[in-house]
Amino acid sequence: MNSSLVNRNKPDETTVLALCEIASRYGTPAYAFDVRRLRSQVEKLRSALPSEVEILYSLKSNASLGICDVLADCGIGADVASAGELATAVAAEFPADRIFVAGPFKLPETITQLRETPEAIVSIDSLSELQWLSDQRIANSAVLRLRPDFGSCAVVPAGSESRFGFTCDELQRCQEYLPSSNIDVIGFHVFAGSQVLDAEKLNEQLRLALDLSLRAAETLGIEPTYINLGGGFGVPYAPDDEAFDLVRVGDELAKLAERAAPARIVLELGRYLVAEAGWYLTSVVGHQTFQGRPAVIVDGGVHQRADMCGLCLRSNQNAPLVLGGDSSPLTPTDVLGCLSLPDDVMLEASPLPALAAGTALAFGNAGAYGMWSSPALFHGSPLPAEAAFDGSEIYLMRDRKPAASILDDQHHVTQKTVTTPA
Ligand SMILES: Cc1ncc(COP(=O)(O)O)c(C=O)c1O
Repeated sequence: MNSSLVNRNKPDETTVLALCEIASRYGTPAYAFDVRRLRSQVEKLRSALPSEVEILYSLKSNASLGICDVLADCGIGADVASAGELATAVAAEFPADRIFVAGPFKLPETITQLRETPEAIVSIDSLSELQWLSDQRIANSAVLRLRPDFGSCAVVPAGSESRFGFTCDELQRCQEYLPSSNIDVIGFHVFAGSQVLDAEKLNEQLRLALDLSLRAAETLGIEPTYINLGGGFGVPYAPDDEAFDLVRVGDELAKLAERAAPARIVLELGRYLVAEAGWYLTSVVGHQTFQGRPAVIVDGGVHQRADMCGLCLRSNQNAPLVLGGDSSPLTPTDVLGCLSLPDDVMLEASPLPALAAGTALAFGNAGAYGMWSSPALFHGSPLPAEAAFDGSEIYLMRDRKPAASILDDQHHVTQKTVTTPA
């Protein structure tokens, strides 16, 4: 298959061929992940950040088992926030002592799993959770999540206004409680938000996070050995977004690592590792008009692309790759999803060639927070297929299910006529 490209970030021919093959082999909508890109993101981090900084992959950005397999094989750790993510991290064989278990409250199923992975480190979010975990007598070492006492510069902020972590007042109360608890506190955790593209602003945020952690250590009278400074490394989504200056952040982290020693600095990154490795594949099924412009309807929709919300991607992202090729003139065209939802707009006024029904489109930068933070059941939709490609090798990660699969695991409330085939 040929492809015509209306995109600033031209993928190489092997990638285009793999996307075409995945669309035709597994159908659309589907997600496709570039294994080489996942590995190269880890390599970029390794070469720009000081070696003593430990990198964790935040599964909340994409908990597909196949993605976790690749990242675990790259030798990084995992940041999980639920029993499901913890089970996935263990299945992908992230080393147990590099699994970080966070989230606002560890539910009973997570506690059961923590007992099976005593080397994992737990982030405690509140005094109430500290008391609960102490009562559970888990053997895991713990860090206290601190609520930033500074504003966040992230597009998705988690600064002083957020609900997560101990405030300074709560830390004082924690100091009284800790000596009688069964919890071994080895350090701190600060996360101030997601999607920061400006390296200088991010550096300031990381400095403030370390300051806060060192002050908390003084308050509690402990020598921390583990300080998780969060991250929030951004990804350029819009055509005119600047690339993230990783080298500049690496230089700052070298200074912060020196200040933190003997504590080790840890970062939890999701988007930076997976966003640019992911493609969302969807096919044109029909045509409409929208706001006076020609529009195409596709078989996917925003119910599988929650990453688009909050980032205004529908009006500010690169045009999709047109798989199959078309050299007709470019016209501002809207791409509309297949939901009965006015907001199901995937792209507005994007320069696209005439698109016949059956043409597959590949949206780039779709690897983070796509399906995994989506209202995916809307309209009784089955999940899209997922595949990975490593050069020309293709691996199916998740089967496409028929529409009727949404009835699986559901039970009738009233008696129905049973028409079971003989
Ligand atoms: C506590 C926490 N850690 C890590 C992340 C991952 O952030 P990102 O995907 O921007 O790297 C998030 C995202 O919201 C988060 O809330």
